[in-house]
Amino acid sequence: MNTTPTTTQDTTGGPATGWWTEAVIYQIYPRSFADSDGDGFGDLPGITARLGHLAELGVDAVWLSPFYPSPQADAGYDVADYRDVDPLFGTLEDADKLIAEARAKGLKVIVDLVPNHTSSAHRWFTAALAAGPGSPERARYVFRDGLGPDGAQPPNDWQSVFGGPAWTRVTDPDGRPGQWYLHLFDTAQPDLNWDHPEVRAEFLDVLRFWLDRGVDGFRVDVAHGLIKQADLADWQEPQEILSGAEVEKPRPPMWDQDGVHEIYREWRRLLDSYGGERILVAEAWVEPAERLARYVRPDEMHQAFNFEYLLAAWSAPAQYAVITRSLEATDAVGAPTTWVLSNHDVVRHASRLGLATTLTGGRPNGIGAGDPQPDAPTGLRRARAATLLMLALPGSAYLYQGEELGLPEHTTMPDEARQDPTWVRSGHTVRGRDGCRVPIPWEADAPSYGFGPTDASWLPQPPSWAEYALDRQRGVPGSTYELYRTALRLRREHGLGRGTLRWLSSGDEVLTFANDGITVLTNFGPAPVPVPEGELLASSAPLDPAGGVPTDVTVWVRA
Ligand code: NOJ
Repeated sequence: MNTTPTTTQDTTGGPATGWWTEAVIYQIYPRSFADSDGDGFGDLPGITARLGHLAELGVDAVWLSPFYPSPQADAGYDVADYRDVDPLFGTLEDADKLIAEARAKGLKVIVDLVPNHTSSAHRWFTAALAAGPGSPERARYVFRDGLGPDGAQPPNDWQSVFGGPAWTRVTDPDGRPGQWYLHLFDTAQPDLNWDHPEVRAEFLDVLRFWLDRGVDGFRVDVAHGLIKQADLADWQEPQEILSGAEVEKPRPPMWDQDGVHEIYREWRRLLDSYGGERILVAEAWVEPAERLARYVRPDEMHQAFNFEYLLAAWSAPAQYAVITRSLEATDAVGAPTTWVLSNHDVVRHASRLGLATTLTGGRPNGIGAGDPQPDAPTGLRRARAATLLMLALPGSAYLYQGEELGLPEHTTMPDEARQDPTWVRSGHTVRGRDGCRVPIPWEADAPSYGFGPTDASWLPQPPSWAEYALDRQRGVPGSTYELYRTALRLRREHGLGRGTLRWLSSGDEVLTFANDGITVLTNFGPAPVPVPEGELLASSAPLDPAGGVPTDVTVWVRA
């Protein structure tokens, strides 16, 4: 263990410094990135073999979604053992090789940490079931007696994020109906009791385990959920991850409780005791931006995903507002802003931005064959413009695997193929997230488009995906892949991630800003607008024949 302390954020309130403040971080969803053994599931050796792609693309770091032993009830976000690798994905040795190979290629590695809940197959939970009511084993989770004369009603009215009640009743060792346990997500994901010292000690140890193996940080799942309001008061509102509100609303008793911050302060102290600028990234569906900024105060986490940005409508006023608000909120605490357009939980932005609802900020949770379909060319055009806008913003940006190929959502997946628990738990009303999790295409003419050596793919790949394959785009001028590479190279060369944004125009149809020496313009309006003066460095689509920036296009110009 390297114990050299590193200070990467000025605790007196000055801006943070360090690799992560301007990094572009690429999310790998291990199931769907690259399959080395042909079983239809991506794996760690598959990732290691494809790291060259990420170095060539020009990102700084990768974040890996969970690869730990798990019954896979929620695609690995149900962890049964935090210190090992699921055989589906490989071995601990494979993880070590991946970390070493990434480092050799100049890429940092961030792993996912899932502290809000374990899998119901975790040894702690099976012990809790066996030990019965009132036992120390049950105290590590949130067990309560039910309401009503025979305890047949759940302890409160909370709903699971995936639909249905957030409580499940257990059968006691004597065969009789027993207590209920809380699960804000699937029934196979019991929530831990973070008021319990053993839970806190366990996760500090898990952090050490992966820090000692050389990881550069952790993406913290459901970071806003660990502490619940002590009285578990009823919450009559429907469960809603994020509504896009710009003002603070009454806080639900299960989310964003003040007690979570002490946990992250303790983790931060641990990370700072290691060398090498290791980071914590909050997945916290918290709004407004000022409230989210509390997670990235100088002695807490380093970054938080900016979901308000991801959810913002595709219009000049909405984008201006969210960018301005995000920068102000994180500047106030000295942290870098982050930007993200896609991940494994939302409709891919190449499709989302092709929906009519994108102009007002609507957000479907999955799209099925019978739903309104996105306009694919418009979606891709806007996605390219949105990405070029995002990569010019100061701060750190997150990319989701496949977006560099312009990959759309699979919007016509047969319902029988769906695996997201949301589909079942919502009574087959909400399709959920499978459409953005489909294994990605590498080679147009290979089985499973080069995802693996066979045709096997845990979710079906659409027949149209050959055109998105990497080998159809690599070296092809104007391809989405080459646009990403160019943008990432220029972003690095011009230091845009550590620059300063200055608005030049913020009308109803056009946004223009300067980031140090680069002028960035996005045209949201229907008619072409003049290109800013200077040398054109990048354009998300060809310019108008008369020389203007057409609708849904971003340009970068050296002033
Ligand atoms: C957020 C993760 O991104 C999502 O995929 C998962 O289902 C929930 N947290 C529960 O762990």
